Formats: sequence, structure tokens, C-alpha cells
Amino acid sequence: VEETYIMVKPDGVQRGLVGEIISRFERKGFKMTGLKLFQCPKELAEEHYKDLSAKPFFPKLIDYITSGPVVCMAWEGVGVVVSARKLIGATNPLQAEPGTIRGDLAVQTGRNVVHGSDSSENGKREIALWFKEGELCQWTPAQAPWLQE
Ligand code: GTP
Ligand code: MG
Repeated sequence: VEETYIMVKPDGVQRGLVGEIISRFERKGFKMTGLKLFQCPKELAEEHYKDLSAKPFFPKLIDYITSGPVVCMAWEGVGVVVSARKLIGATNPLQAEPGTIRGDLAVQTGRNVVHGSDSSENGKREIALWFKEGELCQWTPAQAPWLQE
């Protein structure tokens, strides 16, 4: 089964959107396997976004992600990487469709409230980066037979 790393960014936490964002993934039918409120150190933010280190906005991005606590989440399910990116919406919230998290709740790329892994490989990499082994839970939701035949 596929897994993805979802993170409520500091603006989402400051704006009181944590419950709303968790709720969208829960209601879709994905399984949460990890959850914590966390103040991200600069080195971890740089490692997480290392592919963007040459971009002009990189220093601002690192300041943003480390500006307050984030909510780290691991989610599991069939097709969860692509589906989560659809639920999240386009990087620029002004281009994100209504009904998506960014389309409904944000207005600017630099304050786009949530992160989602862009590939199955990065999902694994990011979960390993943000969580220690004992912080993840394997469990079977009672609703499992009602989500998949
Ligand atoms: P993530 O799920 O956070 O990885 O976003 P994404 O996959 O939709 O976009 P991408 O990985 O290309 O960029 C990562 C993050 O960097 C974005 O979500 C923004 O927060 C930030 N970012 C990207 N482009 C810009 C930009 O042009 N200006 C600013 N200020 N921030 C940007
Ligand atoms: Mg990305």
C-alpha cells in the first residue's frame, strides 16, 4: 500500500486549520499512520526541500516552514500520493480549484497551508525524514471493509 507525507505548514497551524485539513483526508477514506505537532529545525527544512535549494525563494521558504510549529502526518491508502495532491490543489492557491484545500483556504504560493509528497518514492523518503520509527502506528480501521470491496 502506498504512503504519503502530509504537513500542515505554520500558516495552517496559526490560522486554526489543522482539524479542517485532517478531516479532508479522513473523510476521503485514507488511513493516518503518524501525527505530531513539531517545531521544525532549519536543517530538516533544508533537507526536506533540498530539490528547491537553487531557487531564489529558497531562503524565504525555509524561514516560512520554520516560523512556527507544523503538523506532520503520514497517510496510507491505494493511490494516496496522487489523490492527496488532488485534494491539496495547485501550488499557487489562486490557481487551485475550489473544493481543494488550497483553493478553499489560501491565497498565496508563499502561504499555501499544506504540503503533500509528489511521488511514492518521496512519500517514503519524507516519512522517514520527519518521523522516528516508534512514532508510526500500524492499525486496521473499523471502516476498512466499507471503503474497499
Ligand atoms: P509542497 O507540497 O509544499 O512541496 O508544494 P508543491 O509540491 O505544490 O510545490 P513545490 O514543491 O514546487 O514547492 C514547494 C513549496 O515552495 C510550495 O508549496 C511553496 O510553499 C513554496 N514555493 C514554490 N514556489 C514558490 C515561489 O515562487 N515563491 C514562494 N515564495 N514560494 C514558493
Ligand atoms: Mg513539492
